[in-house]
Amino acid sequence: MSKDKVHIFDTTLRDGEQVPGCKLDTEQKLIIAERLDLLGVDVIEAGFPISSPGDFNSVHEISKLVKNASVCGLTRAVKKDIEAAAEALKMAKRPRIHTGIGTSDSHIKYKFNSNKEAIIERAVSAVKYAKTFVEDIEFYAEDAGRTDNEFLARVCEAVIKAGATVLNIPDTTGYCLPEEYGAKIKYLKENVTGIDKAILSCHCHNDLGLATANSIAGVINGARQIECTINGIGERAGNTSLEEVVMILRQHPTLNLDTNINSKLLYDTSQMVSQKMGVYVQPNKAIVGANAFAHSSGIHQDGVIKNRETYEIIDPADVGVTESSIVLTARSGRAALAYRAKNVGYELTKTQLDQVYEEFLSFADKKKEIMNEDIHDIIVASGISIEITV
Ligand code: KIV
Ligand code: ZN
Repeated sequence: MSKDKVHIFDTTLRDGEQVPGCKLDTEQKLIIAERLDLLGVDVIEAGFPISSPGDFNSVHEISKLVKNASVCGLTRAVKKDIEAAAEALKMAKRPRIHTGIGTSDSHIKYKFNSNKEAIIERAVSAVKYAKTFVEDIEFYAEDAGRTDNEFLARVCEAVIKAGATVLNIPDTTGYCLPEEYGAKIKYLKENVTGIDKAILSCHCHNDLGLATANSIAGVINGARQIECTINGIGERAGNTSLEEVVMILRQHPTLNLDTNINSKLLYDTSQMVSQKMGVYVQPNKAIVGANAFAHSSGIHQDGVIKNRETYEIIDPADVGVTESSIVLTARSGRAALAYRAKNVGYELTKTQLDQVYEEFLSFADKKKEIMNEDIHDIIVASGISIEITV
């Protein structure tokens, strides 16, 4: 049975770039956009055109450059925003306008000093106006995570009637639990008339570390687009991480869902975004962190040397990492030492290994990590007589 496709909407250049210190110039954005297109994302949210002349220009230039993905520009439910987005996107092969408004009680009261009926009216007008410029209109119900489901369903129904092709259900504040977010998507699927005319989209923030889990709960319950960023960067604690959702769907074939992403480009893309934005990837970051395929405890190393699958659920080559690494520390055992010694050219017998291992432990207690060059020194210090074989 063929798998259902989950569209990947990348917002690295919009929500990701909102992070303090991550500002990119147009040239840097173009390099990233080209890479995202190659990676196979379905939509590139290129920016918020009304926000500044620089952002407008970036969206315009990205629209000219991108060959495959839809290019999207963000707007508020405001005419001049929509006009700016339409103008910036006019050279795009597949333009999408992303417009919307806050729908939670807190947004309606404090941000808009308004009421539910007026919010629906503004939402509908914005979608109708955007539709006069482009066919593909995504509507976001900001703070949908904290919006009551019944009202959210009314908003969704109204904007579908007005022409929205995608309904973005953002957990803007990262508040929802996965069960709750999944149930919200299910509720909309079951209660919104016309829902089959639109794609439901998950846009989850990571304030409680649940962005990835919530997005997966969303697609399990019927959403078919995930909004995410490379390395999970984004406002506050960030957005759903692209590499995580892509690999979760790939590693769980029973979900029967997949994306168009060429996963072999994930590691390089992560490094590229990290370097351009000047934001380090935490070493224990799933999929692309420096330690994602590094094994340092003796028990794990012994297993991985015998068979990689004992402690790895992903083949590193599938995400563009050359190989798993066996890190030598004071917690490593003989198997790891013999393996690394062999890699640098020493084939140790069992007796030699015992002798070198004693020396290794006293080195390792003084140093955080033993590198290849240290192995030579350890072998010399152990007093064994051995030639390098390669
Ligand atoms: O988090 C959010 O609600 C957003 C919207 C503007 C889509 O980023
Ligand atoms: Zn967001």
